[in-house]
Amino acid sequence: MTTYQIAAWSGPTGQTWAKLDAQLSRQLEPIGRAAMARAAPRAGERVIDIGCGAGATTAELAAAVGPTGEVTGVDVAHMLLDLARARAAGAANVTLIEADAQRHAFAAESFDLFYSRFGVMFFDDPPAAFANLRGASRPGGRLAFVCWRPPAENPWMSLPMAVADTLFPDRPRPDPEAPGPFAFAEEGRVRAILDAAGWRHVAIEPLDIEIGGADLQASVQLMLRVGPLGFVLREAGATAELMGRADALLRPAVAAHETAQGVMFPSATWVVTAQA
Ligand SMILES: C[S@@+](CC[C@H](N)C(=O)[O-])C[C@H]1O[C@@H](n2cnc3c(N)ncnc32)[C@H](O)[C@@H]1O
Repeated sequence: MTTYQIAAWSGPTGQTWAKLDAQLSRQLEPIGRAAMARAAPRAGERVIDIGCGAGATTAELAAAVGPTGEVTGVDVAHMLLDLARARAAGAANVTLIEADAQRHAFAAESFDLFYSRFGVMFFDDPPAAFANLRGASRPGGRLAFVCWRPPAENPWMSLPMAVADTLFPDRPRPDPEAPGPFAFAEEGRVRAILDAAGWRHVAIEPLDIEIGGADLQASVQLMLRVGPLGFVLREAGATAELMGRADALLRPAVAAHETAQGVMFPSATWVVTAQA
């Protein structure tokens, strides 16, 4: 079944992410590392990296489980999996599969650890997806993922969203629980999803850290291309005139976040852990 999100990630959204992989991966690295610390992968374990994208965290997991362990990276975006394959560089303990993690028929008792850096908020039926994943757990299997808190707490997203609202005042406002980057913003909803899917000992901790580090030009370019602003600009044809207007609106707001370390934004996420 091809959902809206799968079509987007295996199409234009995935292509944009593939082009901007180096910058995006660098920005997300400190958040992924915090989730990795909670996941605590051990030598010899079998791990799944859900929505592994271009494979930065798949490679980290592979290093942690070592030659006696195995890491399976799952994603729907073939162009990101190509980058993940290049990153894994033939590592014998990495397998990359193009599949919908929500519905894929994983073999029973396949994994000790289920990890994801921002790859689990795009399922159209989250309880079914997490139940499907739990069905592939070995006894005592652990889940650790990171997801965004609301846009209002993430100015790297609320600023470009405000620009999208200014340029397209009539654009439809998405349902906050619709599949997408902020679908897991509400702690209670995440807990209810995991409870319904049969996961136990659910813990949801806030993580607040600064992310970024690119210069002003690269930061503005990134925000014009990804997320809801990137989406509405692409949909509207991304003409030079439109991109210029968006740039002019966004740049001063982003410049206010310039530091000696580059443009830095606060980020607000949940680090979620559970047991099968
Ligand atoms: C925000 S990106 C994060 C990518 C990567 N984890 C990282 O941190 O760089 C979300 C990823 O989830 C993948 N994805 C979305 N829906 C999926 C699904 N149903 N099954 C597997 N992957 C999915 C997308 O293709 C994309 O690579």
